[in-house]
Amino acid sequence: MHFKISPSKIGDATVSVPGDKSVSHRALMLGSIAEGRTAVTGFLAGQDCLRTLAAMRSLGVAISQSGPTEITIEGVGLRGLSPPAGPLDLGNSGTGMRLMAGLLCGQPFDSELIGDASLSGRPMGRIITPLTRMGARIDSMSGTPPLRIHGGSGLRAVDYDMPVASAQVKSAVLLAGLYADGTTSVREPAVTRDHTERMFRAMGVNVSTVDQRISIEGGQAPRACQVEVPADLSSAAFIVLAGILAENADILIRKVGVNPTRTGVIQILQSMGANLTLENARLLGEEPAADLRVRSSRLHGASIDPALVSLAIDEFPVLFVAAAAADGKTVFSGIGELRVKESDRIAAMADGLRRLGITVDESPDGAVVHGGRFSGGIVESHGDHRVAMSLAVAATIADGEVLIRDVDAVDTSFPGFSACMASTGAEIRVEAGGQK
Ligand code: S3P
Repeated sequence: MHFKISPSKIGDATVSVPGDKSVSHRALMLGSIAEGRTAVTGFLAGQDCLRTLAAMRSLGVAISQSGPTEITIEGVGLRGLSPPAGPLDLGNSGTGMRLMAGLLCGQPFDSELIGDASLSGRPMGRIITPLTRMGARIDSMSGTPPLRIHGGSGLRAVDYDMPVASAQVKSAVLLAGLYADGTTSVREPAVTRDHTERMFRAMGVNVSTVDQRISIEGGQAPRACQVEVPADLSSAAFIVLAGILAENADILIRKVGVNPTRTGVIQILQSMGANLTLENARLLGEEPAADLRVRSSRLHGASIDPALVSLAIDEFPVLFVAAAAADGKTVFSGIGELRVKESDRIAAMADGLRRLGITVDESPDGAVVHGGRFSGGIVESHGDHRVAMSLAVAATIADGEVLIRDVDAVDTSFPGFSACMASTGAEIRVEAGGQK
């Protein structure tokens, strides 16, 4: 599929975006090993989470769906998973694969994790190293999927200093720690999203966080709870930027997750001049949420604080578009992790923006984006959902029509993206064709 987008008049709107991907993955995995029934509302029925749902079913967990975003998980308890009949296919999802590896290395049976072409090229050494130190036995293709996990290894607690700031690595170690003897600790070099810790606490599992060291004692049994998943700030970010860049818009996005370990994008956009405010702040279980109000604003270039990188890790594609539409230049540094996401996001965004007439200077772990005007043109998603959606936002203020090729991956995180954009006034059409 392709998106064809014409210059648009984005105006006033109230919209909802789908549920948070990170929280939905965790609800599935923790709900599956909890004692009792976990009811989840606001679940993200995107391809990534549906892969995790299918994987949990293959491990013997009964999960029913009573509405488009409502699921019920019949927890089997810490020791209740059963051997899968074949490989578990996590599709495009790094979160799915890395967290599942942590969960599965503590089981008494063997399992195999596979993924699509993009996931099959992504680094897994970062989880294999700490999990192996805990006693897990994992075979891989020189550090990339597929992963063959040998069950029946008694896990031991470790105290692990993570070399990269990664919530996926932290979560894999904490999940394995639940099955280890003793207290497992993991120290992160920068604060990363803490949804795993919050959901553990919601399920009665003690997790302590002191400075940036998170510890869990093995053998604790999670207890089922209700999970109300907030809307995904990473998806809301596209609508937010579309509203900022419009000539005269006032957009309200309802019930968005504003966990402070995720809100770097809000701080960065505000520092560039965005009129973006939070209303009606509340807690959904352990997760903070608010309505986001965004009004059209003139952005100016900035030097982005590297301390905010791990708090905005998925929003750099859309922030590159913000930088390209801003007055002056924007300097991004310390963003090397973007090169190992669903695509090399520095290269993919530099390519897309250049094709729309923007000057981008790349470095191994950064970029300088020079503000300018977007021309019309043909751009590639590089098979990456966030690259496709970011370029779609740029297209709404381009001087001509923009064709974004190969956008099927958008469904991994934001089913209904084109309808949501259209409801704000975007002239977006979905056309069949192209590679998958
Ligand atoms: C995620 C963590 C982040 C993020 C990903 C979701 C998670 O990855 O990019 O989309 O749910 O834990 P890293 O922790 O590897 O940076």
